Amino acid sequence: MEFNLPLVLDNEMTFTSYSPSNLTDKVGEAAAATSSEIVEALRRAKVAQASWAKVPAPARGRVIANVGRLVEKNKEALSKLVTREMGKVYREALGEVQEVIDTCDFFLGEGRRLYGQTVPSEMPKKNLFTFRNPVGSVFVITAGNFPAAVPSWYIVPALLAGNSVVWKPSEFTPVVAKALTSLFHAGGIPEDLLITVVADGAETFTALEAGLKEGLINKVGFTGSTEVGRRIGAKTGEYVQSACLELGGKNPMVVMPDANLDLALEGALFAGFGTAGQRCTSLGTLWLHQSIHDEFLARYSKIVEEAKVGDPFHDVLYGPMISEKYLENHLKHLAMIKNHHKVSGSSGIGRITAANPRAGFVGDPAHGIYAHPTIVSGLKSDDELYYTETFGPLVTVGSFQELDQAIELSNGHGYGLSSAIYTTNPESVWRFREGISAGMVSVNNSTSGAEAHLPFGGNGKSGNGSRQSGIWVLDQFTRWQSMNWDWSNKLQKAQMDVIEIDHNPDFTL
Ligand code: UN1
Repeated sequence: MEFNLPLVLDNEMTFTSYSPSNLTDKVGEAAAATSSEIVEALRRAKVAQASWAKVPAPARGRVIANVGRLVEKNKEALSKLVTREMGKVYREALGEVQEVIDTCDFFLGEGRRLYGQTVPSEMPKKNLFTFRNPVGSVFVITAGNFPAAVPSWYIVPALLAGNSVVWKPSEFTPVVAKALTSLFHAGGIPEDLLITVVADGAETFTALEAGLKEGLINKVGFTGSTEVGRRIGAKTGEYVQSACLELGGKNPMVVMPDANLDLALEGALFAGFGTAGQRCTSLGTLWLHQSIHDEFLARYSKIVEEAKVGDPFHDVLYGPMISEKYLENHLKHLAMIKNHHKVSGSSGIGRITAANPRAGFVGDPAHGIYAHPTIVSGLKSDDELYYTETFGPLVTVGSFQELDQAIELSNGHGYGLSSAIYTTNPESVWRFREGISAGMVSVNNSTSGAEAHLPFGGNGKSGNGSRQSGIWVLDQFTRWQSMNWDWSNKLQKAQMDVIEIDHNPDFTL
């Protein structure tokens, strides 16, 4: 059977979305926006922003509360759509939608805080203040792996802080995007304040440049590959704007000899193969202390071999890849396997088909885009697979002798999103936390599964230092304004007209 689905640009006008777990199931269609249509949306959003910014922040918070309650009410319907259109297992889809609700719950209260400060002045009868102002118009571009939660990390705080949003979701998940957008509108967000446009990369990039040139974009939020993030960062920089960049990862998990190995195995299974390895936070390389390497690898290979793969509406570890494009990318990474590597985890590698079967597959692999779980051990630091971000059911495994060496190997490729260490020794925990360059560190827990109110983001090739979630993301969507108010009725000059109190600098006891 030949598939060039699940998503095709049928003609110049429409994206058609098919379920990656059932390629005959058409999930829906979306009109393909041209760059000039996106720019038009940016213009409308800019106009809408001016009056939204005047709505008191607590009232904006109430709207976010409405959205949260509506998402909660529609949790099952939205989660089913996430599983159907994107392919993650239903339990994970429920978790993803819960993350949208958690984000709304957090930011509805921020409407009553959004604190500025009162600051003492160096002069009498003068007061200093700080205010958070909305940045203006935000252009959000997101990926298909988290079609609801990650967009909400941008959209919710951006709107709460008084901005407008034009959102370009993944072309692979336009129906989830439409559903989520309609929940925002039903919750009271004006139509023009949040506009969703589905477009391909080229049209989006052209619109980005035109929008920046016309002064229609004051912030870009982007989640996706390092390669595209680099281009977006450079383009926004040209127009003296900045982007919040959430990019790739090659997330390490270090297992020390004193670790609870059962726990580490469970963590490595979920981190490596949950969401078919298509999370930014998915496990990249498992670094095993040499004293436990062989035993751990054997046990890991066995549980991966025995894990259920297949229909994401059933009780399986993971379902399909998001699309053919994601599978092709995964196959490119499999081509990087060399003779000195050992492969385990399944009865084959690459696409699961009748001719390349996976034992215990749940459903019929011909219905969707499924890939074998693959463990590649014997990783060396000069392997292409060591420094390449993979994005699929592929975990690389290497060994180390000392913790310092594991830290060096964990940082050496230049990515720095998430990381994990399994150990029962507090000293190893602190040494790892201090030495690892990642923005996020898990101790005795999976590399994936960040909570919605802690700063999310990476360093190096994983991001430009911006952070999403919690209070930290407010620095992306607001700009500090400082104000001084002099009520002395005379010109008091800062640094010059300051009070000096007499003191005795020669005093000794
Ligand atoms: C992502 O893959 O871009 O930490 C986001 C996690 C999820 C979010 C992942 N809460 O795995």
